Parts: sequence; structure tokens; C-alpha cells
Amino acid sequence: MAQLKLDKKLCKRLTREQLAVLKESVRKRREIPVRVVYTQEYWDDIAKDSSYALASRELAALKKSIPHVAKALAGRKVNVVHMGVGNGIEVPILVKAIKERNIGTYSIVDVNRTMLDISEKKVRKQFPSLRVLRFNRDMETYGVREVFARTRKAGAKSSLAVLIANGVLFSNDGFVKGIGKSMGKDDFFLLSLELYKPGKDQEIIDPYLIPTVLDLLANGVRLLGYESRHEYYDGEVDKKDQLLKIYFNPGGDKSRRLLALKSYKPTVAQLNKRMAKLGFRTLLLREFKAIHTCVALYRKKPEKKY
Ligand SMILES: C[S@@+](CC[C@H](N)C(=O)[O-])C[C@H]1O[C@@H](n2cnc3c(N)ncnc32)[C@H](O)[C@@H]1O
Repeated sequence: MAQLKLDKKLCKRLTREQLAVLKESVRKRREIPVRVVYTQEYWDDIAKDSSYALASRELAALKKSIPHVAKALAGRKVNVVHMGVGNGIEVPILVKAIKERNIGTYSIVDVNRTMLDISEKKVRKQFPSLRVLRFNRDMETYGVREVFARTRKAGAKSSLAVLIANGVLFSNDGFVKGIGKSMGKDDFFLLSLELYKPGKDQEIIDPYLIPTVLDLLANGVRLLGYESRHEYYDGEVDKKDQLLKIYFNPGGDKSRRLLALKSYKPTVAQLNKRMAKLGFRTLLLREFKAIHTCVALYRKKPEKKY
């Protein structure tokens, strides 16, 4: 790629490490890492947007699955490590199912300080006796090991890592490996994910091309000095890579396209294969075919050496 024309003022939002990731990713792969776009409050606009069908599908799947998850936890005391908590919409669903008395510490983690403020305020108001820890952290750049360790220190022996409606973060193998490395033998990992379904490509792509999502992606595009217009974006489902890909075409020029977002969209068989490879054992997996979404609960495979 020719010389990057970074917007120096906007780049001040990023840490030195995030800026280095951005430069390398654009130069080597023409990809804008999504962690750099979550610097402002746009996620909340998306969460409130009724046309964002993806989140409502994953929430519906979570609500249907959570009694089974609670049963698998069998009344044991756990800490919750809620990663990419956003506006905290899923917190009451989890707390009510697991039961407040069974929760040691509830950690909320998000790269976006404003989102963390919103969810912390909500959680403290809804569950005043719950012990809450907050971590304003870019988990892709700085990992989750310390989050898990500090949560465990302040709470129960066992922890439940939670990643809901976050196929974007989940597409990052390094991040998922980091979760595995941070988990102990008593820990669990709860995941909700939209799946790939043949013939539903457009239904999968559409929620990512709504104006509120494109406004979020504009954060990344502007860091590179480009003007962002909604008509400069398009999307595809790459079945080989098992990824939904949203591209930004500078000035509408597709030959210069940059990958602005990717989100993991596997079939159940592909998900099972990836998780086994990354060292996880599936305890339960519930697939909701009509809404091509699944909820799964994992433990770490004891034999896997990281
Ligand atoms: C797709 S939303 C999901 C939020 C929530 N689960 C929901 O459905 O409302 C993504 C959230 O993850 C956070 N996030 C994205 N990348 C992150 C990173 N690298 N580290 C920590 N949080 C991140 C964003 O700030 C945002 O709040």
C-alpha cells in the first residue's frame, strides 16, 4: 500500500500499541482492525436500532438456552467475566438464571469507556448487592489473562467467561486462544453466535450495512484520512474463510477496497472443529435453525498444552 495518510488528530484516541496494530494490518492485509473503531458511543446507537436484527436473534437464542446453561453449572458458585459487555442488555438474563447468590464477582469488560459506564450504572442499579469489577480494556491488544486472574482473586474458584453477540471479536483466533489460556480446569466459556445458513447470505449481510453500523465503521475509515459515505461500503459472506466481510471502497473505487469488518459465520460442524482445535470441549450446543444462531457452553480440554 502507498504511504498511509493517517489523520493524526483522530489517531490520538488510540494507544501506541493500537496504532501499531492499525498500521501493520492496513499495510499487510488492507484490513482495518475493528478494535480501533470502538472508540466512541456508536455501539449504543446500533443496540437501540430496531433494524439491527442480528442482536435480537442472538438475544432470543440466549433466553431460550440459559436455563440449560444454568443446569450445566449445577448451582456452583461462579464469577462471570462478561467480555464486550456493550450496554449490558444480557446481564439481567445471566444473573437471574445463574442466581445472584451463586455469583462471586461479575466482571464487565469493554474497550469503550462510555459503554462500560452505561452497563456499570445499569448493573449496579439492577443488582445493588452484586460484586462488580469493571475493566476498560482492549482485549485483543492486551489480552484477558489479568482480567481472569483479578476476577478469580476477588470471587469464586470457578469462572464463566461470556461472549454474546460478538462474532466480530470471536473471529480473532488470538483472542479466543487467549481465553483458553486464561481459563482454568474449573472454568466455563459461554458463547452465542450467528451461524452460516445456505441461501441466507443477504439476511446475514444486511444487519451490517445499516446506517448505524456504517457510522461505527466510519471511525476506522476516518483514521486513515478517508471520507466515509454509506454508499462506499458493501459486503459478502466468504464461505472459504467462514467470515462475513464488510468492505470500504475509498471514493467508491472497489479496486482499492479495505476490509472494514469481519465476523465469524461458521456452520455448526465448522464451529465444532475450530473450538476443538483451539482446545475447548463442548458441554452443550443448542442450534436455532430458523434464526441460524447457536448458543454453546465449553470447558477447556485438559490435554491441550498452550
Ligand atoms: C457487537 S457489540 C456486543 C455487545 C453486547 N454483547 C450486545 O449485544 O449488546 C461489541 C462490544 O464489544 C466491545 N469490543 C469490541 N472490540 C473489543 C475489544 N477488542 N476489547 C474489548 N471490547 C471490545 C465494543 O466496544 C462493544 O461494546
